[in-house]
Amino acid sequence: MSVLKAQGLGKIYSSKGNVAYKALEDIELQVEAGEFVGVMGPSGSGKTTLLNLLATIDRPTSGQIEINGVNPSKLIEKKLALFRRRELGFVFQDFNLLDTLSIKENIILPLVLEGMAPRIIEQKLAPIAEFLQIAPILEKRTYEVSGGQKQRAAIARAIIHQPSLVLADELTGNLDSKAAKDVMDALKDMNERYKATILMVTHDPFSASYCQRIVFIKDGKFFSEIRRGANRQAFFQQILEALSVLGGNFDDVPFARA
Ligand SMILES: Nc1ncnc2c1ncn2[C@@H]1O[C@H](COP(=O)(O)OP(=O)(O)O)[C@@H](O)[C@H]1O
Ligand SMILES: [Mg+2]
Repeated sequence: MSVLKAQGLGKIYSSKGNVAYKALEDIELQVEAGEFVGVMGPSGSGKTTLLNLLATIDRPTSGQIEINGVNPSKLIEKKLALFRRRELGFVFQDFNLLDTLSIKENIILPLVLEGMAPRIIEQKLAPIAEFLQIAPILEKRTYEVSGGQKQRAAIARAIIHQPSLVLADELTGNLDSKAAKDVMDALKDMNERYKATILMVTHDPFSASYCQRIVFIKDGKFFSEIRRGANRQAFFQQILEALSVLGGNFDDVPFARA
């Protein structure tokens, strides 16, 4: 079953210097349930634009999106907010955790908003915190934990309500190589144990090597696609080769190492 179907997706920004700017053109993307897909492309190729459209934060200029059989642009604003909260999970480069809450309060926020009973919430939280190795820091504040721990907490928050689709944008961009590896191991674990369907935008080849499939975009258009075999190291090499064919500038986010 397809969790995500994007057809003929296009986005034109009209704000840039008052000239219409085509940031995305005719993107076709299908993600099956349980898949872990990466989207790569040079800086300015339209990755964040694509993610914002899929996240229903922004609306496409052309084409359509279906998430779990629903076209979000057909929903009124109130229903859209609910749809986003229930069907999607987000992991951002800068963690987006609330500093006034504990790690635990941050993670369970989506369930609290649903009015779920505290006992059920605890039952859902315990195994996820265990798998992600953040059980000992649940009562801490965000400024008391490391970047890697923050990002693993953000993964827990993105997954605890079992959304149809988890969207991640450069989630290792603010982490050193060790923390990046821990976070990618954690995300892969969530994909395998919880059958979480994940779409991750990155231009870091190391992080991307955890994906099962990578779609490359360039200048807002589909460029190529590769699939991983059994070996992550071999896939990493394949990604580096694909990136060298792709060309362009990858400077704005540091690469983690394989
Ligand atoms: N809100 C906006 N208004 C105008 N232009 C934008 C806006 N957001 C992004 N762009 C432009 O669209 C292109 C794609 O941007 P983006 O999706 O952020 O790329 P990436 O995430 O791959 O670096 C860039 O040229 C960028 O300057
Ligand atoms: Mg971006």
